[in-house]
Amino acid sequence: MTVCEYRPGLEGIPAAESSISYVDGQKGILQYRGIRIEELAEKSTFLETAYLLIWGELPSQEELKAFENEIQEQRRIKYRIRDMMKSFPESGHPMDALQASAAALGLFYSLRDLHNPKYIRDSVVRIMATIPTMIAAFQLMRTGNDPVKPKENLDYAGNFLYMLNEKEPDPLAARIFDVCLILHTEHTINASTFSARVTASTLTDPYAVVASAVGTLGGPLHGGANEEVIQMLEEIGTVDNVRPYLEDRLQRKAKIMGFGHRVYKVKDPRAKILQSLAVQLFEKFGYDKYYEIAQEVEKVMAEKVGKKGIYPNVDFYSGLVYRKMGIPTDLFTPVFAIARVAGWLAHWKEQLAENRIFRPTQIYNGLHEVPYTPMGKR
Ligand code: CMC
Repeated sequence: MTVCEYRPGLEGIPAAESSISYVDGQKGILQYRGIRIEELAEKSTFLETAYLLIWGELPSQEELKAFENEIQEQRRIKYRIRDMMKSFPESGHPMDALQASAAALGLFYSLRDLHNPKYIRDSVVRIMATIPTMIAAFQLMRTGNDPVKPKENLDYAGNFLYMLNEKEPDPLAARIFDVCLILHTEHTINASTFSARVTASTLTDPYAVVASAVGTLGGPLHGGANEEVIQMLEEIGTVDNVRPYLEDRLQRKAKIMGFGHRVYKVKDPRAKILQSLAVQLFEKFGYDKYYEIAQEVEKVMAEKVGKKGIYPNVDFYSGLVYRKMGIPTDLFTPVFAIARVAGWLAHWKEQLAENRIFRPTQIYNGLHEVPYTPMGKR
């Protein structure tokens, strides 16, 4: 066996073979199953894109309808899951609530039949259908309200916004939210997807796979960055303060949230689409100062660190869009999870098809043959 050098963060080291998505970080290209993200954002819906990712090709009209119907039928969560969520502390982060609830689903569906296509299909439908309901339910319960039941006439995106705000969403907002889900649903082998594949490789159940991925997505260097972008824009406060704020942080070698990417060395193609969606939303519902501050941040960052290949990533504009839709800041990452779960499940299915348990190696740099020191001599 070849002994490889150690690369922190496994940078550049392939951990899987996958036909789900493709990124060219130099040219700013992202494709799902070979289709450009720009085309999907314009022509597809989130559920159609999820189907494409998970089953490998675009569905026929009947296949899509059947998938949509199955999801719609499974949207309600069990009373016992809801009651369990009621006992979560209101001050807890919604990502922790989601991780616990996703894992708890496994208690109710403990049968594990990983070679059965029906089991795979049912699990995909159940997880995708219930995650938005669990997030909306936690949001309402932590603010002292009863959860809102899913509404049949609304699509996936519209229904989530309805369950969250207790009113039917504006059609433009619902379509933009659906496009946001398309843009966030898959991105090759990032940290949470790697986590999902590692967990899947042990042949555990899909609820554990999703729970481990949710836990990984929550960190500020991954999905959690979109919350921190908004906090940063609020902290900056005015357009005039952008330059001194950034100069101070960059001088201290502090990271600017929503910038930089392991793979992209140009502006993230998802950030470009999200920026245009933000503009559409602001045109309809009114501009706020945070968009102006964000534009100035982008300009100053290009000047200061553009040559190092540090540009806005997906999280930079998504927070602005979600904020305008009235989604609370600490739900931004759970919303990311609503989208990304389809990518995780596509990787779960792909991992199962060619499974070998992940068991990398390490380079030991500790001591050897150390004698045990008795308690009194330490
Ligand atoms: N602000 C300022 N400098 C940066 C940033 C940033 N956001 N990102 C990278 N750099 C600099 C970094 O200081 C380093 O400079 P030097 O070579 O002089 O020491 C160089 O660029 C390489 O940085 P790195 O941290 O080694 O890069 P990485 O590939 O390990 O990290 C990253 C990628 C996304 C974690 C990092 O860019 C970052 O922390 N960004 C801010 C958090 C963020 O927006 N995360 C969302 C990522 S996209 C969505 C997702 O995948 O979930």
